[in-house]
Amino acid sequence: MNHIRITGTGSALPVRCVTNLELSKTVDTSDEWIRERTGIRQRYLASEGETTSVLATRAARIALEAAGIEAKDLDLIIVATTTPDMVFPSTACLVQAALGVSGSIAFDIQAVCTGFLYGLATAERFMRAGGIRHALVIGADTLSNLLDWNDRTTCVLFGDGAGAVVLSRSDHPGILSSHLHADGSHAGMLCVPGNVSKGAMSTASPFIHMDGQSVFKFAVKVLDEVCREALTANHFSIDEIDWLIPHQANIRILLSTARKLGLPENKVIITVGEHGNTSAASVPLALDVAVRNGSVQAGQRLLLTAVGGGFTWGSALVIF
Ligand code: ACO
Repeated sequence: MNHIRITGTGSALPVRCVTNLELSKTVDTSDEWIRERTGIRQRYLASEGETTSVLATRAARIALEAAGIEAKDLDLIIVATTTPDMVFPSTACLVQAALGVSGSIAFDIQAVCTGFLYGLATAERFMRAGGIRHALVIGADTLSNLLDWNDRTTCVLFGDGAGAVVLSRSDHPGILSSHLHADGSHAGMLCVPGNVSKGAMSTASPFIHMDGQSVFKFAVKVLDEVCREALTANHFSIDEIDWLIPHQANIRILLSTARKLGLPENKVIITVGEHGNTSAASVPLALDVAVRNGSVQAGQRLLLTAVGGGFTWGSALVIF
């Protein structure tokens, strides 16, 4: 039992689906502009009561069922999120309680859109250190709460959702390696400056601010680098990868990354059209969709990668 495998996946979306056309009735934009520049056709937006922990718990239950274990079997719960229900306790603690269990380790990770990969790598290292049989890693965000709906340069890009995986010890290889990076000197390129202080929001903005073109260039550069890092570490060529499952930020970022890596488009899992950018949920949500529609099969080699605010970026090479 020297290996750590993904043994179950799950995901959850809010009930309300908002198309580009619907959005264009309240925002100065068009279906054509959004599709051409981003590939996004629609996104799901959380309604009252559909908090990050609610979506995370729904995704978790599905992943547990797929793994064939119960919540009481979990020794570790990690939730990657930038939009926790509360400042504290952590969303992981809320999920643990909603699953009706107690006693396991539970904490949140905040690495924005790279959060799930940070969570996966952290859980993997915990498990390799011993004492943990099953871990639950969730990426969940309701970024719609941080959007200025009068700012067309940001509000059209994002959606809400959650994705989850169960990791279990195994005799068969699963996670082969994970690679994480950050560079805080780019904090201002993508940020929400505000915070809660002295009983009120600070005077800094509580909305997402983004230099879109700089983010685009930075994302393509580091995604290519960190994918190559994973390939080199495992002595694989890109031809030996069955699926690239990238953070679903923008179809042009996804396809540029694939092109730079020399990977054909038909080996890239693409869900950005249906979900928009769901931040930490994006990679596990895309993985779950691909598992359930039969694209991803047992034994295949998956290259997961993401980049997000911080800036943070990472990759993981996984045998599914
Ligand atoms: N609808 C219509 N017009 C718009 C919209 C909109 N929603 N948003 C901007 N425009 C206009 C601009 O005002 C500008 O008009 P102008 O020429 O009259 O000044 C024009 O469209 C072009 O704007 P650009 O910013 O140059 O458009 P660009 O081709 O760079 O696309 C985009 C913008 C989609 C944001 C792109 O830069 C991008 O995808 N960047 C990456 C951002 C990203 O993915 N962020 C997600 C978070 S980070 C992460 O997940 C890694």
